[in-house]
Amino acid sequence: MAPLARVRARSLLPALALIVGCAGDREVRQRMTPPEVSGSLPGTEDTSPGPGEADGALNGGETETELVSVRPGVNDKYFEAGAAEEWSELLEHDGRDVFEHREAIVAAMALEPGMTVADIGAGTGAFLTTLSAPLGPEGKLYAVDIAPPFLEHLRGRVADEGLSNVEVVEGTTTETGLPPGSVDVLFVCDVYHHIEYPSAYLRSLHETLRPGGRLVIVEFDKVPGKTSKRMMKHVRQDKATLLAEVGAEGFSLVEEITSVPLSENYMLVFTR
Ligand SMILES: C[S@@+](CC[C@H](N)C(=O)[O-])C[C@H]1O[C@@H](n2cnc3c(N)ncnc32)[C@H](O)[C@@H]1O
Repeated sequence: MAPLARVRARSLLPALALIVGCAGDREVRQRMTPPEVSGSLPGTEDTSPGPGEADGALNGGETETELVSVRPGVNDKYFEAGAAEEWSELLEHDGRDVFEHREAIVAAMALEPGMTVADIGAGTGAFLTTLSAPLGPEGKLYAVDIAPPFLEHLRGRVADEGLSNVEVVEGTTTETGLPPGSVDVLFVCDVYHHIEYPSAYLRSLHETLRPGGRLVIVEFDKVPGKTSKRMMKHVRQDKATLLAEVGAEGFSLVEEITSVPLSENYMLVFTR
């Protein structure tokens, strides 16, 4: 299957790299500053390829970094008409480990009034009210997603439920779409295995998080003999792989939260 998006960044060209990507039948063209050029992010000095990246030689001895999706098509179903209605039912019911324990998950994050939090891959908004409540009117919750049906659905919920401290933000497969250093806590729940370009996206998460802020990842376990066959197939990476990938982009593990009685997921806290 062809990769969903391909990014070429010529390290010898101090110019913008062209991203050409497509999701389903939609083609997306945008420009970004390649990490090699911006040089502003800690942990990006090592230009060796990360997950989904490959170096190749160009004419004249230049090198290029090419991003190839580690999981082509994994988000296509979210772009289909009617996705928000279908996935609201699938993501928001008590038989789902993280939904059933959403109050405990958010309580363990110790959010405070006035904080700025980003729900990365907010989906249908399963965590919308639980995350926004503790932030109060002075705080802010960014609900970030890439799928138009979910973004429209989230905007509707924000209006209907009068969530005045929530802003819905359209991100891309490589960037959060949020200002640098703007977020105290990044919340990434059941999303990591849907990230097609882990290195690029982690660099964007790193840039988005304020120094000393926290990255909270809740993710499906992938343990042979424990994890269902379906999830063994669906989830790309196990915990060790996730730890290595996140660590490689400049995040440090603070703790694993075990006080929430999750049965299929683990919860990790990192800082930058
Ligand atoms: C399984 S859903 C989880 C939704 C929500 N976090 C929850 O737990 O109910 C995965 C979500 O991640 C979103 N997603 C995938 N890649 C993303 C990216 N690079 N940036 C933001 N959202 C992304 C998908 O569109 C989808 O809404």
